[in-house]
Amino acid sequence: MEKVFYVTTPIYYVNAEPHLGHAYTTVVADFLARWHRLDGYRTYFLTGTDEHGETVYRAALAAGQDPKAFVDRVSERFRRAWELLGIAYDDFIRTTEGRHKRVVQAVLEKVYQAGDIYYGEYEGLYCVSCERFYTEKELSEGLCPIHGRPVERRKEGNYFFRMEKYRPWLLQYLKDHPDLIRPEGYRNEVLAMLSEPIGDLSISRPKARVPWGIPLPWDEGHVTYVWFDALLNYVSALDYPEGERFQTLWPHAWHLIGKDILKPHAVFWPTMLKAAGIPVYRHLNVGGYLLGPDGRKMSKTLGNVVDPFLLAERYGRDAVRYYLLREIPYGQDAAVGEEALRVRYEADLADNLGNLVQRLRAMLFRFAGGRVPEPVAGEELEAGTALLPRLRPLVRELRFHMALEAVMDYVKALNRYLNEKRPWELKKEDPEGARAVLYRVVEGLRIASVLLTPAMPDKMAELRRALGLPEPGGLEEAGRWGLAAPLPLPEEAPILFPKEEKPLKASPKEEKALEQISLEDFAKVELRVAEVVAAERHPNADRLLVLRLSLGGEERTVVSGIAQWYRPEDLVGKRVVLVANLRPTRLRGVESQGMILAAQEGEKLVLVTVDGDIPPGAVVR
Ligand code: MSP
Repeated sequence: MEKVFYVTTPIYYVNAEPHLGHAYTTVVADFLARWHRLDGYRTYFLTGTDEHGETVYRAALAAGQDPKAFVDRVSERFRRAWELLGIAYDDFIRTTEGRHKRVVQAVLEKVYQAGDIYYGEYEGLYCVSCERFYTEKELSEGLCPIHGRPVERRKEGNYFFRMEKYRPWLLQYLKDHPDLIRPEGYRNEVLAMLSEPIGDLSISRPKARVPWGIPLPWDEGHVTYVWFDALLNYVSALDYPEGERFQTLWPHAWHLIGKDILKPHAVFWPTMLKAAGIPVYRHLNVGGYLLGPDGRKMSKTLGNVVDPFLLAERYGRDAVRYYLLREIPYGQDAAVGEEALRVRYEADLADNLGNLVQRLRAMLFRFAGGRVPEPVAGEELEAGTALLPRLRPLVRELRFHMALEAVMDYVKALNRYLNEKRPWELKKEDPEGARAVLYRVVEGLRIASVLLTPAMPDKMAELRRALGLPEPGGLEEAGRWGLAAPLPLPEEAPILFPKEEKPLKASPKEEKALEQISLEDFAKVELRVAEVVAAERHPNADRLLVLRLSLGGEERTVVSGIAQWYRPEDLVGKRVVLVANLRPTRLRGVESQGMILAAQEGEKLVLVTVDGDIPPGAVVR
């Protein structure tokens, strides 16, 4: 079999900020891309932003911005988001790019010339947020089934694509390719859609109403309907039709989408491809909805979004990735939230995996001279080499949660093995035997780390460093025993998955004592007036600002979580109160030398400043 893998995410509308729902599909795509890359496939991972259409146009107007400036800004937010989640895409396409517009126009021209596009009048019920017309039947209690908003009755001159003509062909194609749409439930939904006429597809909008789009090559008065434009990103990014990437990658295309956009991908897209003479993609993989804490689909409109960056800041990006992949059976709806993430983090990552690495390191230092011992046969732990052949089909069939569960079960078996063999006792009579036990656990962790790398790339690299293991040359190394070489361990290794100290609940008596402190206690805190001389956004955290403070003779850098309330440029010149003798700490990579005081109530926050003219450096008492 040719080892080529091409994976895509939907291209995201730039009218909303990225949330956990978007992040989920993108993390799944990144996992698949990393898995295949590590497995020696020529891999191409495409994501991007969908920037045309009425909703985006209106959002730009509402923001008081020129549409181009608006889409540039929000598209950049998606790029940043993916950077923060460790998404290693190969290409990021934007539908406002020249390379994309050229392909859209070429395909339109081709389909028009072939006689599959005609002019007509359309009347229907339109949801502006979805950018589409609905039939009465599709509405839910008269409202848009996705947004729960009223729809508008609209009539206008449009060009139509003869989609209905391709219905029998598509039905047959689905029957001949039973694994085209997965999981199967969605395939059945599409078969049901195709059992009745699907009608023709309106593929243009009058430019007078929606000026923000790609003009039709034969009629400048109309722009391309956003779906006809957007779907083509999957081939425009490959330089269709002549590009080498198109030729090589396209037959192996896996699309990943959310179930909300099943019809465009399962009905519009294959019929468009057929009309344009392009073969159909290999798989359409359909994910369920992530539900907000209220049990409804997470969306900006409903205001129930969970912010992936906040979670990544608190738990680390690899924990967020692991959580999404481990917790959600692909294809199903799932309620997600911080509490469930914390439970997974503590049980699977901190207690099962991270703790084992710590214990093992301690033992290797105590009775193996701080090195990985000499390789030995694997005993029962050699079963780890059988994980890879079990996982390969699970991953190809999108059962990520089961794949990760299997690896974590193996890590549990490593913990059990260590506890049963008790090398700390064994070492007295049989030091060789004790070292062999340690070797097997190191080797088991090496295997687990290779298999977990696509889900947690950073943390697994850290784990290998902590145990003196090299980076894997390929996924197949998880299928072999005895690769860990007797190398020294680094003296220091950070705790892989640190647990936050839970605030101990004080007894009522202790609480009383906590309420009051002595003057000496208070005097330990050194408070000083400081002037903000410079301020900027933190390079790695949206909620943080990095301030440069003058204390008269001395300058300090302080990282402060006030980005939500203050713009950097408004802070310069302010005199604030600094806790000057706080132990320095690194916040997302920047050292913070102290803390500034602020008053907060609920959502409101203001900085504590001084009342009157007093030079920076003055002591506050
Ligand atoms: N621009 C179109 C897609 C064009 S693809 C040629 C679009 N964009 S979107 O930003 O509104 O949504 C894109 C995708 O984000 C959804 O299909 C889905 O994959 C993901 N999700 C957005 N909210 C989601 C949840 N609450 N849950 C799971 N995924 C969701 O549609």
